[in-house]
Amino acid sequence: MKPLLQVLAGHALPRPPVWLMRQAGRYLPEYRELRAKAPNFIEFCLNPEAAAEVTLQPVRRFGMDGAILFADILLIPHALGQPVAFEAGEGPRLEPIRDAAGVAKLSDARAAETLAPVMETVKRVRAGLPAETTLIGFAGAPWTVATYMIEGRGKTDYENCRRMMWSEPKLFAALIDKLVDATAAYLIAQADAGAEALKIFDSWAGAVPATLFDMAVTEPTARIVRAVRARHPSIPIIGLPRGAGSHVAHYAAETGVNAVAIDHMTDIAAVPLPKGVAAQGNLDPMLLMTGGAAMDEEARRIIAAMAGRPFIFNLGHGVLQHTPVEHVGRLIDVVKGRA
Ligand code: CP3
Repeated sequence: MKPLLQVLAGHALPRPPVWLMRQAGRYLPEYRELRAKAPNFIEFCLNPEAAAEVTLQPVRRFGMDGAILFADILLIPHALGQPVAFEAGEGPRLEPIRDAAGVAKLSDARAAETLAPVMETVKRVRAGLPAETTLIGFAGAPWTVATYMIEGRGKTDYENCRRMMWSEPKLFAALIDKLVDATAAYLIAQADAGAEALKIFDSWAGAVPATLFDMAVTEPTARIVRAVRARHPSIPIIGLPRGAGSHVAHYAAETGVNAVAIDHMTDIAAVPLPKGVAAQGNLDPMLLMTGGAAMDEEARRIIAAMAGRPFIFNLGHGVLQHTPVEHVGRLIDVVKGRA
């Protein structure tokens, strides 16, 4: 079995497998070159030839154990009919959904057709990957995707989301229900196409009021996990409840994920995960940017702290845009015991 899949099955390996969130992206010159030729980011994600190539770029250069499908969590709102644009340097922009009419307009009638190119990307990547490398498909968790749909952008204080959750819980639930169904169908299609593991990114889980955490984070994710398992009983699923702090163990137990990605704010060795659930993480992406002896030491400290447990080395969040390429190579060498 491939090393990453062994760990996701609950086994501890002498050397942890490694991949990095956002390992494909703007820090790589070969990514920037291809990206510059695309009319816009959504079309780039929906171009199987380009998306398969940028998925493979970091694996070719550095030999990670996992390849993360090149796509974006905001393909789901796009596929449900909500206009999504990426403005250079500003991040995503969506026409915000704030009322019942906005939620009612979302339709999954054409979602499978819109997202079909992603499945073609999955097939191409599987055909081009080294035998030991695992292809990880993914989607955003309903809460994190909803934050963009409701606010219309990233980097907010989630004021409109929190207002809707507290004052219009039925409207919020209706939006989450649509996202659960669309996301489960999307992940099942990725698994049908050949994704070997799946990841559910709840990047903004840390913004949910504690009382609402289960309603917004745990339960929607658990529903997606159940729906995927009904079709693909043994596909491993990684959850990322980023910023969830004291909720992480509860999230792991209640969602039924096989692994939990731990952010860099959390002491990864101290998280009380259920038996057999793997941990993934959690080097600070800033340390990958700054590099040097401090990076090597911290990587080795994390590996030593997780020895004997099912563990996948990764960052606590995504590779930052201005990260020097050499630092990424060095980190992979350190984790693989080549340096
Ligand atoms: O290696 C990989 O991880 C590639 C695939 C991937 C992308 N986005 C490509 C991307 C994945 C797994 C994502 C997930 C994603 N997208 C998340 C969850 C993970 C996380 O980082 O927390 C989120 C919150 C998004 C939403 C998103 N997409 C934002 C906020 C932005 C703009 C911010 C930015 O970095 O510019 C994107 C755009 C995006 N998605 C880029 C890439 C490579 C950069 C856009 C470009 O190349 O023009």
